[in-house]
Order: sequence, then structure tokens, then C-alpha cells
Amino acid sequence: MNIIPKPVKIIEKSGFYKLHETISVKRNEETENIIEVFGKELNIITDLKLETTEKDFDLQLVFDEDIPQLEGYQILVNNNGIRISSGKKAGLFYGLITFLQLIVNNEVPFCEIEDKPRFQWRGMHLDVSRHFFSIKFIKHFIDLLALHKLNVFHWHLTDDNGWRIEIKKYPQLTEVCGWRRNLEHIPWNERNNSNEKGNGIYGGFYTQEEIKDIVKYAAERYITVVPEIEMPGHTSEVFAAYPQFSCREKKLEVTAGGYWPNLDIFCAGNDKTFTFLENILSEIIQLFPSPYIHIGGDEAEKTRWKECPKCQKRIADEHLKDENELQSYFIKRISKFLFEKGKIPIGWDEIIQGGLAKDVVVMCWRGDGKDALENAISTGNKAILCPNPILYFDWKQVEDSQGTFGVTTLKQVYEYDPVHIGISKENEHLILGAQANVWTEWMTTNKDVEFMTFPRICALAEVAWCKKDNKNWLNFLSRLTKFKSILDKYNVNYYS
Ligand code: ACM
Ligand code: ZN
Repeated sequence: MNIIPKPVKIIEKSGFYKLHETISVKRNEETENIIEVFGKELNIITDLKLETTEKDFDLQLVFDEDIPQLEGYQILVNNNGIRISSGKKAGLFYGLITFLQLIVNNEVPFCEIEDKPRFQWRGMHLDVSRHFFSIKFIKHFIDLLALHKLNVFHWHLTDDNGWRIEIKKYPQLTEVCGWRRNLEHIPWNERNNSNEKGNGIYGGFYTQEEIKDIVKYAAERYITVVPEIEMPGHTSEVFAAYPQFSCREKKLEVTAGGYWPNLDIFCAGNDKTFTFLENILSEIIQLFPSPYIHIGGDEAEKTRWKECPKCQKRIADEHLKDENELQSYFIKRISKFLFEKGKIPIGWDEIIQGGLAKDVVVMCWRGDGKDALENAISTGNKAILCPNPILYFDWKQVEDSQGTFGVTTLKQVYEYDPVHIGISKENEHLILGAQANVWTEWMTTNKDVEFMTFPRICALAEVAWCKKDNKNWLNFLSRLTKFKSILDKYNVNYYS
């Protein structure tokens, strides 16, 4: 059977259950909203319709408390129809996603399936700062994450090239910091040296109403939206409107291209910086029910902190050794604020520098991620693996294709295992899972994002869902051929 990600156990039987124009589903108030979402996906993939009924149904969703795992499910297809059971709604939803892939020419093969995910964090990131993507596209992207049984959408909402989320207390974050000179006709890394006025302005942002709509849309698909608000670096766009929170207090322009090195960052010596960030995070907390909030923490150059009297005074007053410890102070102070509000902070692995804050989750991205993972584990911190040579989908898929830096093939993604040799059994639970990242410096259109993401996301789905011994590259490739016909129905511009 051609299911991606591959279920834990499939027993194929002889025979098929025939579907007619309409799939009748047993009426059940508790599962109405799952069925409604399923109906939309069914509509994209097949010409079958859904109707709910009291008797003579093809499809039945059953709560079964003996299936313990939140996202686990079982499917039974026989002469009586299709029965999907799970202890929880998320499992029923994943059963339906599998069922979608079982339908071939309006027939469903008789079978028994038992399935559950390996990791609790199956993530996909999208950078909407370097290039902005519409709400319509974000929903389409979320539909596709659900199709792969991914359950986290990491939304990279702020960075040097534009602030993308409405904050009521600081309207200029979007009115000013969300826009830049439109230099889209110039290659990304050449834009900073350009004196061109540009073709008007480029940018955009999501209103809080749109954010709520996306959070709800994702939740209906059992996807948690984890927002990222960058700090202390990757924040130069903020200083186009609020320069008082940087060390030099110099007004900057929102950069239209590569901003490197990341010199102008939040001033860690100014208490008002923390008030500003906490006010922003207070609105973020209201908008995102996610237990996690990502606070960035990557690639902050310490040059300005070294020159800044306020930052140096902070180092002295707090008895810190150096600027790395000042970064740790920064992250710990913000983390404390988030923990007090009931949220768990996540940061890129540079947050380890100068001392890792207790209970903060580390997103391991540099190199193969092993150093960061071992560091995190050594202090009992949890970690998510997204090593950049493997799970950065802005990297090329083959040497002569579109993309940045090096090459990451589909096979490399497929063969990646987040639990590397040397991690002890008792520490495995600290690895929450895996995630791929899509940085969009070189992706200007929806079709570019799809081209870089697909089909590597199909491989990621198996990295995050399947046990190591249930993965097989050649078997995956043959299933992928069929899966691509589903991607065609979603009109996905995948690399092939
Ligand atoms: C990163 O790629 N700078 C996290
Ligand atoms: Zn400073």
C-alpha cells in the first residue's frame, strides 16, 4: 500500500470495499468537525462526496480508550465498510488522512492498519519575513502539512527583512517595519549595496484577526502553530521604527536584502527593551494557544554590546563574565517571563552560549546538530533536531537546481535519524522530534516554496513518524510515485 508516512503495521487482505458517489459516514456530534475537514480534503483528491447518516454507513469513527496514544489509530476495512478507531480526535483525524490514501478508483482494499507516530514534534517552518506569503498560501501549506501528518507549523514571523504580525500596542511594527524598498529584481545578496530607490515598496503583515483564523484552521487539522519572535538578533527591522531599543539608538531602514553580520541587535542593558518585548509577547501569548513560543536567539553578533555602556554596565552589575553570558541573561530573563505566563520558550541552539536556561527547548540547527543536542541533554533540556545540512529546505535538491549553499538530496533527508548513535535510551525522551526549515531569501513565490519543500517534506514525514526499522529508501520511492499523484491534485509544484 502506498501510504506516506508508512504506517507501523498493515495487514492486507483480499477484496475491496467499493465506494459509490457518496461516502456515508455514521453521524456523531463529537466527530462532526473532523469529518467536515476530511470532506474538504476528499474533495480535492477525489470526486466523492460525504454525507452523514444514522444507518447503512460506509465509514465509522469510533473512540476506543484502549488505543492509548493521542495520535495513534487503527483502521479496519472489510465487507462492512471502513472503521477508524482511536482514543482521541487527533488519532481519528490521522486515520482519515490514511484512509484518503487508501482510496484508489473508488475502491478501498480490505486491510487492518495499526499506526502511531514515533515523535511528538513533527515540524515544518516557514520564513515569511524574507518574503511574504498570503493567508491563502499559508492555509494551503497547512493542508499539505496535515496530509503528511506533521503537527507543528513554526511560523517565522519576524526578521531583518520585515515584521509580519500586527501588535496593537506598537502599530509601527507593521506600518513601518513590515515594508522595505522593492528591490526584487536584484539578487538577494547584492541588494544591500544598491542605492536604487526600488520599484515602490515590498512587504505585508498578518492582522491579529488573520492570525486567529490561521491558528483555528491549523488546530482543525491537529497542527499547533508555534510563533517565532526573534531576539536579541535578527531584529534590525524593528529599529526602523523603534531605534531606542538598540544599543546605538540609530534609526535604520528595513533592509531589502541580506543583512550580515547581524550587528544591530536589542540592547540588553536597557530595561525598556525588556518591557517592549514583554508587551509584544503578551499579545503573542493571547493569539497563540501553543504551549511553546519561539524566541529566536540565533546569530546575534556581540559587537554593539561590547561598545555599549548600558550593556557593559549590565555585565558588571550582574557579575557576568562576557557578552555570551549577557546573551544568556537576556534569554533567561525573557524565558522567566514566558514561564510565568505558562509558556515554554524555544530557542535556536546559540542560546546554549553563556549558559542554557532551565527547561528551555533547544532547536539544534548548526552542523549536524549533535553538539547542541548533547549539550541540551547534559542539562536535562529538551531538543528538536533540524540540522542545517539536512533539514534546511532552502538548500538545493541537486547541484544545478535552484537554492542556496550546498545540496541536500531527498535520500539524505530520508535517511536522517534524529536519535544519533551515542544517545542513551534514557535520554531519548528529551528528543521531541524533527523539523525542516524553509528560509525564503531566494524564494519569492508560492511556487518557489513548493519547489524547494516538495518532495523532501514527504521524506521528513517518515523521519518524524516512522521508527527507524520501518523505513526503507526504495520502498519509500515506490510509494512516493503514487503520492505525487495526490500532490498533483493539490497543484503542488514539486521538484522531480
Ligand atoms: C538559523 O538558520 N539562523 C536558525
Ligand atoms: Zn546595549
